[in-house]
Formats: sequence, C-alpha cells, structure tokens
Amino acid sequence: MSAKPNSPVKSLASFDKDLAEISIRGQWQYDEMLERLIGGPKTAALPMMWKWDIVQRKLMEACDVMAESFTARRNLSFINPGLERGGTSQTILAGMQAVKPGEVAWAHRHPISALRFVMDGDPKLFTVVNGEVLTMETNDLVLTPAWTWHDHHNESDILGVWLDVLDVPLMLSLGQMAYQPLGETTQPIRAERHNYLSERTGVVRPLWEQKVGGSMPRRYPWKEVKRQLDLFCEGGPASPYDDVILEYVDPTTGGSTLPTLRCCVQRLRPGFIGQQHRRTASTVYYVVEGEGSTRIGDTELHWGPRDVFVVPTWVWHEHRCGAGGQAATLFSVSDAPLLEAAQLYREEPESQVGRRSAPLPPLDARKA
Ligand SMILES: [Fe+2]
Ligand SMILES: [Fe+2]
Repeated sequence: MSAKPNSPVKSLASFDKDLAEISIRGQWQYDEMLERLIGGPKTAALPMMWKWDIVQRKLMEACDVMAESFTARRNLSFINPGLERGGTSQTILAGMQAVKPGEVAWAHRHPISALRFVMDGDPKLFTVVNGEVLTMETNDLVLTPAWTWHDHHNESDILGVWLDVLDVPLMLSLGQMAYQPLGETTQPIRAERHNYLSERTGVVRPLWEQKVGGSMPRRYPWKEVKRQLDLFCEGGPASPYDDVILEYVDPTTGGSTLPTLRCCVQRLRPGFIGQQHRRTASTVYYVVEGEGSTRIGDTELHWGPRDVFVVPTWVWHEHRCGAGGQAATLFSVSDAPLLEAAQLYREEPESQVGRRSAPLPPLDARKA
C-alpha cells in the first residue's frame, strides 16, 4: 500500500479526529498522560478536611429543610474537589447522616458495601441487616455488606448521627451500580436471637451447623473495641507511623473488615510524632476524640473531635498527637484490602503491617 504521489499527508490531529469518529483512539495519545504519571501512583484526589462545626451546622439545617426523611437521604457526602466523579477518595465515599426520633429509613439493598460509625447513638437507635437488629450506640461500628437488606430505625428521643462510609466510587468504576428497594418500609426481623447469623461469628458457634461467612450482619461494640485499645496502649512502641493501631477483623476469615474496605481504630498517645510514610491505599479518617495534626504533602491539617479528613493515595503524610497532653483516637477506613487482592498494596519507606511477632510465652521470652 502506498500513498498517491501528490496526495497531501494528513496532520496527526486530523487523523486522531478521523479515528475518534469510528470509536478508535491511537495509543500515541496517551504519551502526555504517561509523562504525568511518572513516579505514581497519582490520583487527582486532594488532601481535604471537613470540620465538624461546619458539617454540624449543615446537618441541623438539613433537619429543618427536610423535615422528614424516610429514604435515608438526610446525608451529607464529602466530595473531594479534585475528583471528577465525586467521592471522598477515588474509591471511598464518606458522609454524615442524621435520623430524627421516630424516623425509619426505608429498607433497600445494593452491591455497594457500607459501614456506619456511630457519632450520637442510643440503645434504641438501630439498623436492621438481613433481619438482624444491630444496636447503634455511640462509637459502635455497624456493617451493611454488599447486597444485604438494611433499614435504619430511630426509636430513641435523640437525633441519631453517624459517619457513613461506602465504596460507591469503586462500584461506579467497576460498573456494578444497582439499587433494589424492598417496596415496604421495613424488612421482617428475625424473631429469635438464636437464629441470628451474627451469633455464629463470636467465640463459640453451633457445632451441628455449617460454618457461616461472607456478607454478614455485624456490629463491633465500642465497649469491646475500647477495652482492647486501652489494653494495647499500655504496651511499648507500636507503629512508628500510626502508634497503636488495631484492625476491625472479619471473625469468619480473620481478614479485613469488608472485602473492599479496611476499618481501623488508632490511638496517638500524648507526645506521639509519627514518622512520614506513604501507601498505595487511600484513607478516610474520623476523629473520635482528642486533637492533633496530620501533614499530607504540603498541607497541614489541624483536627479535633468529629472532623473528617482524607489522605489520598501515595502521598507522604505524618500524624501528630496534639500538644495538650491528651491522647487522640482516630477511626479510619481504607481501600487496602482491594489493593492487596490486586497485589498493588505498597508502603514506603517500609510497611510495618504484620512486621513483629506476637509476644513469646514468658518461659521462652526468658531464654531469648
Ligand atoms: Fe443503603
Ligand atoms: Fe498513614
């Protein structure tokens, strides 16, 4: 094949246009993008913080503007201005939700995995997940895994408020979005507690039954989490980056909280100054208590109780406990499990995850 002797040669730009008209793109068009990605992974997500005093004001306004909400929509999502598709990070959408006394947020399900970290809870505030009542007391963590039916109930006399974290941007990019309303306000509740699947994932289980696992209703009561957090804080040095950090495990697998999301709680003890590190996971933080600061790239964020901030992928960052002599407690959610599954999880300068062995029995420790 050869061009006719005197036919003018097309410009690359007009050739690109020709190709676009037939739904084709030449790979040379990615050269500029590849240049920009050297040294990555890079995301467009920005280090961001949403201060509680502002969010609280808007949540209160939402309560007035939307006097009633039965579809779980009185929820303020934290949108990272760097991202075109929305989302707090490129995989995670976090927000805060208020449910008034007497409200029931209608039952539905979706492939999105979600979790709730309760900010203002009560024994009479609860989420029903696949027929099981999960009480939402302050600082409890409640999971609604992918495709589980869920509805929220506030039978207390306080305004129920929680941090809502979902893998919406991830599901969007995977083309997995779907939504199924139940068509009725509430789903049936299992009448008998001994039929709860969540009663089969504790320290004992019925031996005559098959093991259960996968998408399970699950609640992590703060009382138990706090007991262990306090306990590990009595020890010596923990992570040089995160101080005392604990993972919420799936008791049926011993692995991450959800297949796509890892939840952690960490305490920066008074005087803690974290070393700088970066990781391929993106992480959303919620300040449970205390004050401190996090330097993310060139951005310094000073945070206090109930603030939310995001550390984007592969950005150098360091945490510091505030100077007031009080410890700070952070709850966080990252997309690490997903990256681990794709063998893309990395940290620099080096990972501290699973680095040290558990304590030896006292006799062996004496010999060592
Ligand atoms: Fe939902
Ligand atoms: Fe970190």
